[in-house]
Amino acid sequence: MQKIAVIGAGYVGLVTAAALAETGNKVLCVDSDTEKIRKLKNGAIPIYEPGLEKIILKNKNLKRLLFSTNIKEATVSAQIIFICVGTPSRHDGSADLSAVQKVAQEIARNMKEYKVIVEKSTVPAETGEKIKHTIEMNNPGGVAFDVVSNPEFLREGSAMHDAFHPDRIVIGVESERAEKIMRQLYKPFKAPIVATNINTAELIKHACNSFLATKISFINAISNICERVNADVEKVALAMGLDTRIGKEFLQAGIGFGGSCFPKDVDAFIYLAAQKGYDFELLKAARKINQERKDVLLKKIEEALWIIKDKTIGVLGLSFKPDTDDIRSSVAIDIIKLLLYAGAKVKAYDPKAMEKARSQLKGVIFCANPYEVARKSDCVAILTEWQEFRELDLKKIKKLLRQPVIIDGRNMFEPQQMHAMGFVYKSIGRRRK
Ligand code: UGA
Repeated sequence: MQKIAVIGAGYVGLVTAAALAETGNKVLCVDSDTEKIRKLKNGAIPIYEPGLEKIILKNKNLKRLLFSTNIKEATVSAQIIFICVGTPSRHDGSADLSAVQKVAQEIARNMKEYKVIVEKSTVPAETGEKIKHTIEMNNPGGVAFDVVSNPEFLREGSAMHDAFHPDRIVIGVESERAEKIMRQLYKPFKAPIVATNINTAELIKHACNSFLATKISFINAISNICERVNADVEKVALAMGLDTRIGKEFLQAGIGFGGSCFPKDVDAFIYLAAQKGYDFELLKAARKINQERKDVLLKKIEEALWIIKDKTIGVLGLSFKPDTDDIRSSVAIDIIKLLLYAGAKVKAYDPKAMEKARSQLKGVIFCANPYEVARKSDCVAILTEWQEFRELDLKKIKKLLRQPVIIDGRNMFEPQQMHAMGFVYKSIGRRRK
């Protein structure tokens, strides 16, 4: 059993706190947002993440997971302190690390004995060195400490599964003492541990997210060519993925990657590379392909409806991916804004994200279910691949629509079946009828 503090109760912080409490540690999770902490103390979970609520409530009841707004209390009581605060993008694409610095200063000022300070937020390479320097500058008593980089690889929507079954755990450590403590902490997770220096651990995170984002842009570029030569991107992805050197994950063509990680992390890596004198053209191209995905979808709507102005467009899916209520950098939200700008009326439905979308999408009519979205709309556009949409009564949808048009940005249905049912069905990178 270790005493742990997790600073930052966002996605990464809450999942980390829950997973470490579940494996028997005593965890104090801290956030400066008093309202969020008040809710968590009352058992209300601020985000929708399958399985998270159950584990938080269980460990809260067992008193292994506590919540606080007080970093001082957390620093004094814990030996291992995880920094999980936000690192948003600045206008130039670089990461805003002011929250990380503030937390490091506060930890340093309150340290009375040896601490392991673990950087888990996604940060640019060399941030560990800056954290170390900040702590040294604010720790006049010279208390011993180690900084560790321990990048997170969990995905929203399957975060609990990913937390308990990681493919690997990366620890950037520069002392035997810290390495021993981290290996001990992660023993129950039974995953391979890659131990390296701090800069390498930070670079692993950059490399993984950028590679996955590039893989998505690659298949989306292939889908553009498929459309031009009457080939099927789903079959191309299937056959590519069966080659074990390529692997089948992250080859789903669609409207592009969104979320709080890939767009921001790609920007930050391009920025970091440029600062170090390297023009990362490959990653810039991946970003450009991703930015163009919205136009690809809008063009499909235009092809089907001709004029967008004054048409009613039904949208299914608002979150940046299924099984989450997160709409940060969601491509669906961007597409809706473009449709509104073009003069369309938009009706929308999402199983979990409507609450969060409401404030961003003024003028959109939010519906209670997909059938309300379809009623008297000129087409339905599917922008997030929720399981619920796979199970739709398509005959009913067809009857409710003004014209039987479905634009599928996530390739959820079989084109032949849709055509046989009488739909004008446009999806991504698939063969023409
Ligand atoms: C991503 C990484 O997958 C995690 O490993 C990492 O820990 C996380 O970022 C992070 O840095 O915090 P996440 O953003 O939660 O996780 O979601 P993903 O499942 O990676 O999806 C990102 C976007 O790519 C979504 O918009 C999704 O729709 C899109 N995507 C994904 C595709 O368009 N095609 C695919 O084949 C896969």
